[in-house]
Amino acid sequence: MNDRIEKYSIKELLDKEKIFLNKTVLVEGWIRSFRNFIFISLNDGSTIKNLQIILSKNLKKNFLKKITIGTSIQVIGIITQSIGKKQNIELQSIKITIYGGVDSKNFQKSILQPKQHSLETLRKQAHLRFRTSIFSSIMRIRHHIAFFIHKYFHEHGFFYINTPIITTSNSEGSGEMFQVTTMDLKNIPYDIKGNIDYTKDFFKCQTYLSVSGQLEAETASLALGKVYTFGPAFRAENSNTSRHLSEFWMIEPEMAFYHLEENMNLAEDFLKSIIQYIIDFCIDDLSFLNEHIKKWNNNRKKESSLLEKLKFIFKYPFKRISYTEAINILQKEKKKNFFYPVLWGIDLQSEHEQYLVNEYFQSPVIIFDYPSCIKAFYMRINEDKKTVRAMDILFPEIGEIIGGSQREERYDMLLNRIKDTKIDESKLWWYLDTRRFGSVPHSGFGLGFDRLVQFITGMKNIRDVIPFPRTPNNAEF
Ligand code: 4AD
Ligand code: MG
Repeated sequence: MNDRIEKYSIKELLDKEKIFLNKTVLVEGWIRSFRNFIFISLNDGSTIKNLQIILSKNLKKNFLKKITIGTSIQVIGIITQSIGKKQNIELQSIKITIYGGVDSKNFQKSILQPKQHSLETLRKQAHLRFRTSIFSSIMRIRHHIAFFIHKYFHEHGFFYINTPIITTSNSEGSGEMFQVTTMDLKNIPYDIKGNIDYTKDFFKCQTYLSVSGQLEAETASLALGKVYTFGPAFRAENSNTSRHLSEFWMIEPEMAFYHLEENMNLAEDFLKSIIQYIIDFCIDDLSFLNEHIKKWNNNRKKESSLLEKLKFIFKYPFKRISYTEAINILQKEKKKNFFYPVLWGIDLQSEHEQYLVNEYFQSPVIIFDYPSCIKAFYMRINEDKKTVRAMDILFPEIGEIIGGSQREERYDMLLNRIKDTKIDESKLWWYLDTRRFGSVPHSGFGLGFDRLVQFITGMKNIRDVIPFPRTPNNAEF
């Protein structure tokens, strides 16, 4: 019998309600609620909405006992108009099959139990939190953002490049990398000088998980024109904040013949286009999150809603100021009593960034021309010899969402910077080579994917927008 009956997702059924009226269909999902031995709310993850199932009256008591929240079922039934106010259609069940029941002894401890759980509690059962409305909403939005990013670049003439995850160099210049080795740590080989003999390791040299695909993406852009990467990045920094992951996802476009201004224009249009797309295509999930966030804020009127916050992003051009201007503004705001010092040559702290974005400009801000001493070696040095063509985009709540720059395309300048920053130039011979053969002005940036998902979904903690977060002391699941 099942062979002839078509299977549909709940989204398909609810999106095209009218076509399905009086049709026999098959649906599968997990029970979200069960009332009066008749009404089941079924969710299959395809949408935030549930399908109401009406059980037939002749089901045996023993069978009914097995119908509990969390149980997975298949239902064959007829779609009919609902008399209830909450939904237009419902499924009158003809045949119901149970796939997997619920361990009733442990149910009380699980987050499937229908009550308000804190986000921290959900994190502890990360394998089950996909089943919650909030986390499945976030995951669907995460998917749509990723999908649109590929679409955007494809339509703008970019090619998708996969850069290596295992690498020998640190493009960002700091020492915070995870080492990759197959050496037996109980029996490490040493050379005659007493140093670890990495020639005995898998790759015959010391290797790490990559912090960024940028340097490799640059080499591709110097042939293909416009490219982008979309992959994981790993950072072993001990930052236990609501915006840092040890393993996160980054999108890194790299464009030959782009100057810094064109880079900023692209980044701004890119961010605005993503947010517009998500408002257009994920309104059900966004509205659900909107309501949730209102509840968390105890319906405080002053807090703008998630949708207002998102619309605000594409209302005006982002404010663009140089690092020096930013320092001048912050130094004038003496009454603000910042915890960290505001001094030219020191990196801006989160409190400074948030002040500029939320209070001073009340708009996303692009800060450019940072002091070279606080930025990576590959950024193009300005004529003042003190600043580089860097740009960071700062967002409300999140702070830095994009970091990018025009790259140093002049061989001698680049070599000097590598030497000044004490980077081992022998490992970067291939990168330097690109400046020897038809070097061109070029630029790019890195967008923190998880930070963007965090901003769009309004989550306070980045650990709530990635399925299995990796942070210091935490690599479970
Ligand atoms: O500013 P970052 O370190 O820049 C780069 O890695 C460059 N190679 C990018 C480029 O020019 N191609 O990182 C870029 C972005 C940050 O702005 C932030 O959004 C995100 O990546 N990011 C993190 N997100 C989550 N957890 C972390 N630990 C992050 N570190 C950076
Ligand atoms: Mg940065």
